[in-house]
Amino acid sequence: MIPFVDLKAQYHSIKDEIDAAIARVLESSQFVLGNEVAAFEEEFAAYCGARYGIAVNSGTSALHLALLAAGIGSGDEVITVPFTFVATVAAICYTGARPVFVDIEPRSYTMDVNQVEGAITEQTKAILPVHLYGQPADMDPILEIARHYGLVVIEDAAQAHGAEYKGHRVGSIGGLGCFSFYPSKNLGAYGEGGMVVMNSPEYARIIRMLRDWGQERKYYHVLKGYNYRMEGMQGAILRVKLRHLEAWTEARRACAARYDELLVGSGVQSPTVMPYSRHVYYIYAVRMPQRDALQQALHAQGIQTGIHYPIPVHLLEAHADLGYQAGDFPCSEQAAGEVLSLPMYAELTSDLLGQVASAIRQAQGGDR
Ligand SMILES: Cc1ncc(COP(=O)(O)O)c(C=O)c1O
Repeated sequence: MIPFVDLKAQYHSIKDEIDAAIARVLESSQFVLGNEVAAFEEEFAAYCGARYGIAVNSGTSALHLALLAAGIGSGDEVITVPFTFVATVAAICYTGARPVFVDIEPRSYTMDVNQVEGAITEQTKAILPVHLYGQPADMDPILEIARHYGLVVIEDAAQAHGAEYKGHRVGSIGGLGCFSFYPSKNLGAYGEGGMVVMNSPEYARIIRMLRDWGQERKYYHVLKGYNYRMEGMQGAILRVKLRHLEAWTEARRACAARYDELLVGSGVQSPTVMPYSRHVYYIYAVRMPQRDALQQALHAQGIQTGIHYPIPVHLLEAHADLGYQAGDFPCSEQAAGEVLSLPMYAELTSDLLGQVASAIRQAQGGDR
């Protein structure tokens, strides 16, 4: 059996540090926010090259509060992509704003920057690119359009901890950057978690209040807020893990490079790394027209794979009210039918990588 991710292997490699961190929180009894969370906010913001980091209880909450801090609400429009996890779009809907989609650029699976200007209306307030699979969207043209039209750029960096665009870490490139620490993410908590990073002290002040019932000091509620606070335990665990993140990211990148080599001539298309990117391979997605048959063949050999994502958001039942139809975003729709995510985690051995590649070659009818 080769799992898609192996969180147990990672825990065992850092067990002593994690167990000590958890014990510290139990002793301090700072179960919600507290010193560990505050220290993690500083450390992760610094890692991203941002001045402020506000920790919350999920990546979805991070997106929701980033949008609210940017002043987005009912009657506004936010431009994003349909080839993403549903949370990107749900967070826009939570604010009362309308998600407006543009298609992806098919090699990078990220926002097609040539379609953004055509989607701008009087109601547009923000652009929300997604750094899908761990590869940054093409940020310079997006920033330029945003500047020209006076729009806020909010990065969905939930899948891209440590990814770089032209040498700059994602999250601190736009006005606000949103991260998820869902357990399987490159930097994963042992539960739910998220963070918004930014350089603006005003955004930081608003988000700090909104995540904690809108209060500036206890029981003085300035804004209508939420209970979106990070737990102390998650802050302590994430601090430990952050110290290993670069090593794990390099291990993922080495696994990806090995897959690339092993899959040459196999009939499946390896990921394209754009010239501006440091790809961090949250997902290593190959692509081929007969994806479902390949997935079944791999599963029959005990190799777990995933599909991120089988239905683009504009075709999901939950978002039918947006009024989009099949055919509206052909690159997203085609990708949804053809991508297959292979096992990817820092502890994958070259033996396991070899087994996955051989199984793919065999499923594809031998060497080509
Ligand atoms: C692209 C993207 N955006 C947002 C989210 C939401 O994060 P969370 O699951 O922590 O709420 C996720 C992850 O699940 C994601 O992959």
